Amino acid sequence: MKMLRTEIKHIYENAGEFAERAVTVCGWVKSIRVSKGLAFVSISDGSCFLPAQIVAQEDKCADFSSLIKVTTGAAVMVKGTVIHTPDAKQPFEISASEVIIEGNAAADYPLQKKAHSLEFLRTIPHLRARTNTFQAVFKIRSAASFAIHRYFNDNGFVYAHTPIITGSDCEGAGEMFKVTTLESAAPKNKDGGIDYTNDFFGVPASLTVSGQLEGEYMALAFGKIYTFGPTFRAEKSYTARHAAEFWMVEPEIAFADLSDDMALAESLLKFVIGELLRECSHELKFCNDFYEKGLLERLNSLLSSDFARCTYTEAIRLLGESGESFEYPVEWGLDLQTEHERFLTEKIFRRPVFVTDYPKDIKAFYMRQNDDGKTVAAMDLLVPGVGELIGGSQREERHDYLVKRIEEMGLPVSEYSRYLDSRRFGGVSHAGFGLGFERLIMYATGIANIRDVIPFPRVAGGIY
Ligand code: 4AD
Ligand code: MG
Repeated sequence: MKMLRTEIKHIYENAGEFAERAVTVCGWVKSIRVSKGLAFVSISDGSCFLPAQIVAQEDKCADFSSLIKVTTGAAVMVKGTVIHTPDAKQPFEISASEVIIEGNAAADYPLQKKAHSLEFLRTIPHLRARTNTFQAVFKIRSAASFAIHRYFNDNGFVYAHTPIITGSDCEGAGEMFKVTTLESAAPKNKDGGIDYTNDFFGVPASLTVSGQLEGEYMALAFGKIYTFGPTFRAEKSYTARHAAEFWMVEPEIAFADLSDDMALAESLLKFVIGELLRECSHELKFCNDFYEKGLLERLNSLLSSDFARCTYTEAIRLLGESGESFEYPVEWGLDLQTEHERFLTEKIFRRPVFVTDYPKDIKAFYMRQNDDGKTVAAMDLLVPGVGELIGGSQREERHDYLVKRIEEMGLPVSEYSRYLDSRRFGGVSHAGFGLGFERLIMYATGIANIRDVIPFPRVAGGIY
């Protein structure tokens, strides 16, 4: 073992108790100021949002002459004594007796003191996690993941691992990345199509666009399950809300209908935001100050207000009567665009809103048909700043309706035999949804671009 280091977080949590104690803290230099035999070094170790202030005196700190040559970005180990400063801005500082330079930062270290644009920081994904913004965002991301697992675990859900490599297209939209080991000159079969018999899996395979179908099978055994994993979509959407690789949370509940589904979504979201407010107060305050004034108020008010609900048909009417001029047409039968979604949640309802019962022709094959024959038991949760955060539905559990719908949509029925089996062998009414994890982080931080809530984003046109 190298040494016993104290994490800065622990000193912040109990500066009084640490008073006069000898500690070793390790971290990266955020700034250094030298004046008349004194050096003030601010270091951050990632254990908490706040840096520790190190004070080194020339006559008390070994190797002071090396220390004052240290630059921003260097990794250091500091041995010293904690000085409790209850009346100062920071509750403690560390008086250094020795500073060991673990790794200097070369002169072209890009994160010097001045603030950088998010666009610039995207070009240095290997370094940007060291900035305040990304310390906040990625810590919130981590805390949100844990909160999601905690919610489901506390509520008796089984965590199901659905496959990343799959043979079926859940959304039926064909926006899948192929997984193959065939060389580019892939052999053709007699119909001129690609012959996959000699490919790795012997059949066409893709990266999953959703764990839902396998999630349904697990729910029809465990009653309540959730998946939480990476998801891939090859849609060429060059927007601030679409990534080619993102994470999705997908619960699936048996013996449940669309209103159970919405109640679950609302309760999950409130729980996660509540946990973040408790566990990430410094990080959220930073986001509030630098990215969205009013963020904390918005998150706090979420906890105490009920989400709104309205049908798609009503939403079309409200948008039509709003007098707002939109870029895309508002017409029954057309999908809602982000501008419409945001207008509904930001201007009309001014809070999260579930839009339900969409026309069946703009939704996936598995959604349960309503009695009107025109709409399905679907729900999207729209939230301010983001638009669609969640998409879900009650599933079509009636075997004959499902077959008819798969055929109507021109999908190959033979490829859905297992899915159809799940309706023949103890099928029940069930429902579920998918929550876009990155969009949740955008919602929780006020960060406007999905590229800035993923450590190493993969989006149409770029691998960062
Ligand atoms: O609405 P979607 O496509 O729903 C499904 O995939 C269902 N099978 C889920 C289910 O019922 N189990 O996607 C769900 C959510 C969206 O609401 C959105 O938040 C997010 O996933 N999402 C994306 N996030 C980032 N980049 C993309 N390209 C996304 N596509 C969808
Ligand atoms: Mg959707």
